[in-house]
Amino acid sequence: MRSSHHEGRSAGDGGPYDVLVVGGGIIGLVTAWRSAQRGLRTAVVDPDPGGGAARVAAGMLAAVTELHYGEELLLGLNLASAARYPAFVAELEEASGRDTGFRTCGTLAVALDADDRAHLRELHALQRRSGLESQWLTGRECRRLEPMLAPGVRGGLRVDGDHQIDPRRLAAALLTACERAGVVFHRARAERLTVVRDRAAGIVLARGAELAAGQTVLAAGSLSGRLPGLPDGVAPPVRPVKGQVLRLTVPARYAPFLSRTVRALVRGGHLYLVPRENGELVVGATSEEMGWDTTVTAGGVYELLRDAHELVPGITELPLVETRAGLRPGSPDNAPLLGPTALPGLHLATGHHRNGVLLTPVTGDVMAAALADGELPEVARPFTPYRFSPAADSVRQEQPA
Ligand code: GLY
Repeated sequence: MRSSHHEGRSAGDGGPYDVLVVGGGIIGLVTAWRSAQRGLRTAVVDPDPGGGAARVAAGMLAAVTELHYGEELLLGLNLASAARYPAFVAELEEASGRDTGFRTCGTLAVALDADDRAHLRELHALQRRSGLESQWLTGRECRRLEPMLAPGVRGGLRVDGDHQIDPRRLAAALLTACERAGVVFHRARAERLTVVRDRAAGIVLARGAELAAGQTVLAAGSLSGRLPGLPDGVAPPVRPVKGQVLRLTVPARYAPFLSRTVRALVRGGHLYLVPRENGELVVGATSEEMGWDTTVTAGGVYELLRDAHELVPGITELPLVETRAGLRPGSPDNAPLLGPTALPGLHLATGHHRNGVLLTPVTGDVMAAALADGELPEVARPFTPYRFSPAADSVRQEQPA
């Protein structure tokens, strides 16, 4: 398809490129932007760049309040990316001329019944063991911060370092930054990976055009494992994890409805409410293993609204403006797969599961370093794809670099 005015900008838009990124979601775009900044001739293949899971995501930057047992290693990467966020946003907004909706509002995580409070106490203990800043508040203190909370709130955690960004604006800013940095866009579906003499050599597009590249990056979210042409053992073990999300509007007469992100345990269920400065209020999210299904169900919307109403009764007064479902790219250990694979010339940037928005800055940095310098930075080494194919790793280590 040659519909894009971005194509044909330079001689031979079939490449060869230094870097060809498959997938134009926020992970693919940040990889392309950072690669182009390193002087690599870069292209992105995607029928609808700027789309993907970021179109649904709420945009919490919740390294501390979304911490889970067994994910302490991932915490290091999440914190590294959270620390990069302010400078990343400043640079991206300057490069694109677009606002990203980044808001340093902090987060309050609350509990609704006694079991929820016990659970939150355990999270607090884990946070403290991990050296994270988090303050326990009584229910009354929670309501003093957020007066719209229900009187039944039993206690909570105040985490001033967990912020938010608007993922749709983030994607739009990355798209513009890529265009301005000279990234070429091929608005078509990737049909197949080309492998020549045991090396990734580029992509065949849906209508048969061939793009040649020195290095190909698979950043297609939950679809990353399905690209035809991937040799055995190289396809990433990612799967779709469905999330249903609601968007409401806070009319001016109710503002400020909430002043910060509120996460909650509501009788064992997880819920979050993310208030934007423009009046949007995002309520999420379900977590469902439903394959590729993206239907918004009555049950999903009911559960979200039921729990949101119990947490913030006034929410039923607000206009409901959007319901949507997206697919998180889940991996076996809930952490991303970053960097080179056992197939020379093929890299992965996928499997970000619940943390794609948070991990965007660090992913761009480490992928561009791997592509430009041939070396994955230290912070990303625990997350190489080789952790899921130990045999390939030992072969790789025996070979000279
Ligand atoms: N990080 C929020 C979610 O995955 O629903």
